[in-house]
Amino acid sequence: MRAIRQYEFGGPEVLRYEEVPDPELGEGRVAIAVEAAGVHLVDTTIRKGEPFGPVGVAELPMTPGREVAGRVEAGDPAWLGKRVVAHLGVANGGYAERAVAQVSSLHELTEDVDAAEAVAMIGTGRTAMLLLGLAEVQPDDVVLVTSAAGGLGSLFVQAVRNAGATAIGLAGPAKLAQVEALGAVPVDYTDPRWPKLVERTPTLVLDGVGGDAGRAAIDLLGPGGRVVVFGWSSGTPTPLEGIDAKGISVKTLERPADLRPLEEAALAALASGTLHPLVTRFPLAEAAAAHAALEGRATTGKVVLVP
Ligand SMILES: NC(=O)c1ccc[n+]([C@@H]2O[C@H](COP(=O)([O-])OP(=O)(O)OC[C@H]3O[C@@H](n4cnc5c(N)ncnc54)[C@H](OP(=O)(O)O)[C@@H]3O)[C@@H](O)[C@H]2O)c1
Repeated sequence: MRAIRQYEFGGPEVLRYEEVPDPELGEGRVAIAVEAAGVHLVDTTIRKGEPFGPVGVAELPMTPGREVAGRVEAGDPAWLGKRVVAHLGVANGGYAERAVAQVSSLHELTEDVDAAEAVAMIGTGRTAMLLLGLAEVQPDDVVLVTSAAGGLGSLFVQAVRNAGATAIGLAGPAKLAQVEALGAVPVDYTDPRWPKLVERTPTLVLDGVGGDAGRAAIDLLGPGGRVVVFGWSSGTPTPLEGIDAKGISVKTLERPADLRPLEEAALAALASGTLHPLVTRFPLAEAAAAHAALEGRATTGKVVLVP
């Protein structure tokens, strides 16, 4: 089969598309013919050889990729022939024509579900469910979303709209029309004057960009405002000094022990049409281009590799 292999840490060019042996099956596992594989911002951190959370620095060589959807073609007879989506865990062989997943990680998909959209919901969607639970959006909220055209951001805008609340979506200039189409008031936060362009006082900030943008977003909150902080795609965490004194409450992302209920909720939202993930697709062979585009802020929604 063909897969992306990484033998050294570095830029996107270290991702090589190669012929490799099929992955080995084991007890309680299935082989999936991959129709779509998710690309995550953290995959670029791992690719560079930077430590990531409890995983630390990845072991080489490896095939990156944590989320796949496709058809089970070997392994547990109860799953043979079924279409599934699964979260494989970090750097676990998703960027490939064939991936191996634990049976316990599988969710069955009906034939009409788009594989790339299912991949978007199994990882990024489950995180969105977790964070929306923390955020507790109310109909009278004015919610400021950083990177509102991104994987999480585009789901947040839809959820805010579904809750009957107002969304203000921060994005780069090429993405503003998409943010507006999702249901948010778009604001170009590459314009240094952007905080002055926000016409309503936010009550809640959802921030995964961090740095100066994250802090400027929080500084727009009125008394009693809330912020949910879940990452820093800008490369710098949001400075939070002094915000308690302003009466602003902060919640941060904490991974629960059992993620399956969140995965089920995300897939149910996809099936019902409550949430519709944006997807940017790249051919599997062009994983390096997908990483470069993600790091270059040139993608919207979830980035997905397709055969
Ligand atoms: N997806 C998950 O499951 C998950 C889980 C835990 C934590 N997080 C964190 O949540 C945040 C959002 O995750 P996501 O998966 O939805 O990613 P994302 O927002 O789709 O990430 C890419 C976007 O981040 C924005 N960005 C701003 N500054 C950037 C910079 N210096 N370099 C690259 N991108 C930059 C860009 O949007 P603009 O051009 O519009 O600014 C870019 O298109 C990240 O901090 C991530 O680590 C995500």
